[in-house]
Amino acid sequence: MKKKILKIIEKKNKRPLVCLTAYSKPIAKILDKYCDIVLVGDSLATAMYGMNNTHQVTIETMIQHGISVKSNLKKALCVVDMPINTYRSIKEAKKNAKLIVKKTKCDAVKMEYNGKNFRIIQSVVKVGIPVMGHIGFTPQYFKKFKVQGLMEKDRNKLIKQAKENEKAGVFSIVIECVTSDVAKEITRFVKIPTIGIGASIHCDGQILVTDDMLGLSGFYPRFVKKFVSLNNIIQKGVQNYHKTVLTKKFPSKQNEF
Ligand code: KIV
Repeated sequence: MKKKILKIIEKKNKRPLVCLTAYSKPIAKILDKYCDIVLVGDSLATAMYGMNNTHQVTIETMIQHGISVKSNLKKALCVVDMPINTYRSIKEAKKNAKLIVKKTKCDAVKMEYNGKNFRIIQSVVKVGIPVMGHIGFTPQYFKKFKVQGLMEKDRNKLIKQAKENEKAGVFSIVIECVTSDVAKEITRFVKIPTIGIGASIHCDGQILVTDDMLGLSGFYPRFVKKFVSLNNIIQKGVQNYHKTVLTKKFPSKQNEF
């Protein structure tokens, strides 16, 4: 197994893994200092492109953003999401995972689990590409947002899915919007790190969409904490520019040639 991946796995039961998403080079540079894992998530569909869900994102778009992010990561593990309809069969998954790794030079890909794609995920791991799993509320397979793990049968299903992901060979699992007790149980059961988003403090690590936690996206569900209100800061800057241009104070002599 690759050294960088082993280092991530070894953090389980030692200290929480710090993970965030990035879609661009400047953000990647900042995250690299603080994050163990930087994910080029297909959430860029909604956060960047104003789409209604992640279903329209193409592999070309993911690759473009992957190249940009990876170019400014020196330390953090770079994971790129495989978008919907790029891993429907073993053949398709291997071809597209290889393409993403070749073009972006990322360290791993992420694949959402639908309970049926065990062999597909396993086949990508088997060709030597590290895979991050994703269970719970998986946006590629759900139409409507719903917390997962509330009913007894859902809890058992999630625990089974986590075990299946581990068996398929993934090096970590994102657990999205799952009840605290189920996330705790899964984290106890599996030997690989669990990375929670809306899945409680009991996971081995945490991930958020960076645009949400910076207060830029306007999307603040219960599981998001706004660590700064970047939209207010940007608004002040733009307001100042607006006033300065209207009053002819910009550009000044020092901005001239
Ligand atoms: O696409 C994404 O950003 C994700 C995270 C929310 C885990 O899958």
